[in-house]
Amino acid sequence: MHSKILEKLKQQTPEFLSGEELCRQLGITRSAVWKHIGNLRKSGYQIESVTNRGYKLNKIPNAPLPAEITPLLHTSSIGRTIHYLDQTASTNKTARQHAENGATHGTVIVTDHQTQGRGRLQRNWYSPAGANLYLSIILRPPLPPMSAPSFSLLTGLAVRRACCGFAADQQIAIKWPNDIFINGKKTAGILADISAEQDCINHLIIGIGVNVNLESQNLPPALQETATSLKIETGRSINRPALAAAILDRLEELYDPWLKQGLTPFLDELHHSSLLLNREVSVSNPRSTIRGKVTGITPNGELSLQTETGAIQTIAAGDASIVNNGTVKL
Ligand code: BTN
Repeated sequence: MHSKILEKLKQQTPEFLSGEELCRQLGITRSAVWKHIGNLRKSGYQIESVTNRGYKLNKIPNAPLPAEITPLLHTSSIGRTIHYLDQTASTNKTARQHAENGATHGTVIVTDHQTQGRGRLQRNWYSPAGANLYLSIILRPPLPPMSAPSFSLLTGLAVRRACCGFAADQQIAIKWPNDIFINGKKTAGILADISAEQDCINHLIIGIGVNVNLESQNLPPALQETATSLKIETGRSINRPALAAAILDRLEELYDPWLKQGLTPFLDELHHSSLLLNREVSVSNPRSTIRGKVTGITPNGELSLQTETGAIQTIAAGDASIVNNGTVKL
């Protein structure tokens, strides 16, 4: 009902819509209309009410609310159910609870603020309120668990494509495995969690964090050198629901070809959008650190390196840093 009232108010903008008309069109009482208007105001919608004229929508909040994302979506399954929370510890954690309770393929959890946002390799993900995008998607691909890492790589491609739509004139690259860099600084990250049996995935949770409208003065000192936001790079405020819808659209476009053919159809794009291709890098994981020149990404999503000896080595997981004149950076 919430979204029906909103739809009616949007259709009527910039005119007033009378309470009587709302009751008639939606078949609800005056007090129900009043209650819903109150809830919309709590979500940040500025709605003017004037006796004998009715209600007028003056401002839509720039927040990732389902009522704003859904009308922009072109998907058939991803994002068709969206749960929004003003605040949560981590959308990946909330998504896991939903997945364990049977949430369907494509369900999305989105929030304005994470109190314990998680990054890869046990890091924190800086998640202040009012500026960014934090969302997690529950997927149920009918595939074995070993195929999951390649989808999290592909999510990087979806997020890059979506960001390009809002910052076409900027250099947007993917740093393997799936960090999104704009003009050399990190803007978005992806964290995948999986629940699987030996030969099948129960659910895959793809968590996406994008620094959208974060201002540079609000970046914590530790991130000043290495992180940025779409707004910092473009100088423009970005509509968060529109970016969320674009990410979900792009992800669904990639999903079916990936189910059938894996990463193969996307290798060219992964290569040409790679921050690391042909660069000298050092890749660390808990078992080892390997240094070499990046020669590409394999169809399984591994990073392929040519080491000092000339041998080609592939790495399935790790943290890559670019080596500049012998010093490791990023
Ligand atoms: C990384 O680059 O280290 C990954 C960052 C992933 C952050 C997102 S924000 C939404 C989802 N919830 C989390 O707690 N983390 C992911």
